[in-house]
Amino acid sequence: MKAVVIKPDIYWVGVIDWAVRDFHGYTIPNGTTYNNYLVMDEKITLFDTVKYDFSGITIKHIREITDPAKIENIVINHIENDHVTSLDRIMSLTPDATIYITEKGRKGLERFFDLSKWKIKTVKTGDTLNIGKRNLLFIETPMIHWPDSMMTYIKEDRILISQDGFGQHYASASRFDDEFIECASVHELEDAVIDYYANILMPFGSLIKTKIAEIQKLGLDIEIIAPDHGIIWRKDPGKVIKMYLDMADGITDLRVVMIYDTMWQSTEMMTQPIMRGIKDEGVDCRIIKLRATPNSVAIKEFWNSRGVLIGTPTLNNKMFPTVAEFLHHLAGLRPKSRIAGAFGSYGWGGGAVKEVYETLKAMKLEIFEPGVEALYRPSPDDEEKCYEFGKAFAGKVKEYHNQFKR
Ligand code: FEO
Repeated sequence: MKAVVIKPDIYWVGVIDWAVRDFHGYTIPNGTTYNNYLVMDEKITLFDTVKYDFSGITIKHIREITDPAKIENIVINHIENDHVTSLDRIMSLTPDATIYITEKGRKGLERFFDLSKWKIKTVKTGDTLNIGKRNLLFIETPMIHWPDSMMTYIKEDRILISQDGFGQHYASASRFDDEFIECASVHELEDAVIDYYANILMPFGSLIKTKIAEIQKLGLDIEIIAPDHGIIWRKDPGKVIKMYLDMADGITDLRVVMIYDTMWQSTEMMTQPIMRGIKDEGVDCRIIKLRATPNSVAIKEFWNSRGVLIGTPTLNNKMFPTVAEFLHHLAGLRPKSRIAGAFGSYGWGGGAVKEVYETLKAMKLEIFEPGVEALYRPSPDDEEKCYEFGKAFAGKVKEYHNQFKR
């Protein structure tokens, strides 16, 4: 890959990480990119750096355009490791450059590097910087998705460099949304946006709405959104903004996902009559077995469904460990606007389904109970109960879903 022109004198100089699958514990089946951008103006300005392992590649891309020693400004929009850990290598090539960063970003950055040798200017929302023919506007976006985060708007080119916001973990030979012209690949790109939002931004829905409203109030004319991961939005940046607003408003599909694990297939056997009940009520249904699926994929399927049923066998009077791990992960994402129930099997005393309900209630999800349980092996009677449980749950999901319709 070479540097890519975004607009005259504005280049993508990032890297594509085709191989990464484990991103701080979040499974990313499609790899990712670390995007950074170089603007060739009177004062050459670099926006963000990349993960340390790839510093040689971004430097190579910069050298295709200019000598890195000529970079005068470096804007750091976000200090997470995947965006700043090659900053010291870049600074070693251009030690007199000035770094522009938020105050919280500066405080975080000093945990990574000795800042005493670098020129640092802290910026806040509304601050501007002239780099020649262009003017930059800084917009703080705290908690989207770290306290330090900000976005930078290049006024004359109408480009919003949005750090993690509007990004996707998606390695591709394409750099722009307009290169996704077939239905299947467009769907893949949308799926990557949802996956990123569900696994990283889910807790920040109301902040996202507020911040998008603030940006809209600033009256910025946004022609291009250039995030720090994945595809650049130049065909229709409004599309990803609308997707974010919809997700923040709890818009999702009328669908149930069953997320379960099993010891001796009894809980697994329960999924089938429950699924038939759900389908007979006219609601789509997906089934995810946790030991066969990364948590992050299960999280995305949770996010894509209005209703969730958690299935678990009882082990030592508690829910199965993989189910506990998944619910722990989900609770941290502070989910909203979903209705949940539980089912499971047990041998001696039971206890897992009760524990799942306690966990779901602590998350303040809408709750459907009682759950359904089977002793040892689901009998024909149990299967009938499962079917009715699925049907009744799907009915409630439809009712609950209606309040989120636009
Ligand atoms: Fe892509 Fe929050 O780092």
